[in-house]
Amino acid sequence: MKWSILLSLIYFLSNVEGLKVLVCFPLPVKSLSILGQGAVRHLLEAGHDVTYITVYPLKIKAKNYRQIDISTNTALLARDESLTMGYILEHKLERNPPHQIQEFAVEALRMTLKHENVKKLLEDPNEHFDVIIVDLMESEVYAGLSVLYNCPMMWLYSMGAHWQVLRLIDVASNPAYDPDYLSPNMPPFTFAERVEELWSRIYWQYLKTFYTQPEERRIYEAVFGPLLAKRGRPLPDYEDVMYNASLIFGNEHDATRNRASTPQNFKYIGGFHIEDPVKPLPKDLQDLIDNSEHGVIYFSMGSFLQSKSLPRKLVTEILQMFGEFKQTVIWKFEDNSLENIPKNVRIVNWAPQPSILAHPNVKMFITHGGQLSSLEAIHFGKPVIGIPVFFDQFTNIHKAGQNGYALRVPLSQNLPKDLKPAINMMLTDDRYAKKAKELSDLYHDRLTKPGAALVHWVEYVVRTRGALHLRSPARHVPLYQRLYLDLIAIILTIVSVLIFILSKICKKDHPKRNDHKKRN
Ligand SMILES: *[C@@H]1O[C@H](CO)[C@@H](O)[C@H](O)[C@H]1NC(C)=O
Repeated sequence: MKWSILLSLIYFLSNVEGLKVLVCFPLPVKSLSILGQGAVRHLLEAGHDVTYITVYPLKIKAKNYRQIDISTNTALLARDESLTMGYILEHKLERNPPHQIQEFAVEALRMTLKHENVKKLLEDPNEHFDVIIVDLMESEVYAGLSVLYNCPMMWLYSMGAHWQVLRLIDVASNPAYDPDYLSPNMPPFTFAERVEELWSRIYWQYLKTFYTQPEERRIYEAVFGPLLAKRGRPLPDYEDVMYNASLIFGNEHDATRNRASTPQNFKYIGGFHIEDPVKPLPKDLQDLIDNSEHGVIYFSMGSFLQSKSLPRKLVTEILQMFGEFKQTVIWKFEDNSLENIPKNVRIVNWAPQPSILAHPNVKMFITHGGQLSSLEAIHFGKPVIGIPVFFDQFTNIHKAGQNGYALRVPLSQNLPKDLKPAINMMLTDDRYAKKAKELSDLYHDRLTKPGAALVHWVEYVVRTRGALHLRSPARHVPLYQRLYLDLIAIILTIVSVLIFILSKICKKDHPKRNDHKKRN
């Protein structure tokens, strides 16, 4: 009797709210941290205890919130000038080299795990967590946290399902129809594109297998080995850990189309970072948008690229071009150095983007096409003019174009001249706005809101101790078995043995025939 009460009490305690969740977003990329912040917000609202490892500390003061500040990780990007628009304009980069991205992820990993504040957390033997959520971006070493705290873990991925992340919980999807996330190709592929996709995978996998992963394994063993030894447990092999996530959250939605099919433990929660309802606009912006008789054009190049990194000459020409429209233009420009600003243009250093896009008087969104901005455009049903610069932005804008609600304008010295007809097109042809609205309806038509889904799956994974039943059996079938190479080998062996035997028999026959000839 006593035992059953105790057991049910333990069961009850382990099921009620107040899970201890570790959320880790180690990359110095502002848009990723917006996703981290979204996850933290939903988990706190659901009453859980959240510890958040972040490069961009939040101003939350709550008993159930603690943050581990790793803002010094921003030093990683400060060194890299190749990520500014000026540089890209000069060098015409259309696709990021995969080695650069892998190196960046490993460098961020090193900085994070060496960070004093993180070390303090990891080295505290009394610390425990019920579940771990980590931003997944080209490095899996953080899976070691689940070994340290002996609890299930989930990846939160900033994009949609594609081979590189699916391979962690299922199998890499087929390159014949699933493009790489950095690829501008869209299925159905031409022959050349199909070969290109296959090649880019082989190259990525080659880099990962021979350069990056051995380094990651070293870091995993050097960091987590001693930590586990302190807790009296042996360190499992790296490969057993990196493929052991319970679930992957994907920050996308089916409405955007063209994604590979996903296993049961891949869950789309795209849009969870958008507050619902949105925060009210500041008074001045609210008045401005309300009173714009001809509607509003909103222009932002995102938090990472920033409009101020555009060459000055282009900025001046863009301002002039905007001045020729009747519409109000709100431009997110990150400093106050602009002069001769036309009357209809409002410069804001910081923009409450979701709240602006939510306003019905906003007619279009001129954007770099980052994943978050792309999702927000669909969420609020706004047509888009995309100026993709790097990373997944080409794919996002390409897809939006295919979906019929976007125009693409290349980033070039000709930007102001190319932008003008695109804006005119959007203002006169309402097909784009209609299509955006249609897609938005599709996007909002779901069983649960994405934030609630996130919380549900986090609790579910803890309740079911890692949701082992959702895991794909394909993970443990080696490639040669999946492709039936062993069967092909057997068939080839049998056939060649048969040919060999037949040829022996034939040779025995030949001398006789020769004899016949001679006799004849
Ligand atoms: C893999 O995850 C499950 C569920 O969280 C856990 O029980 C198991 O110990 C993990 N395996 C390794 C090698 O970490």
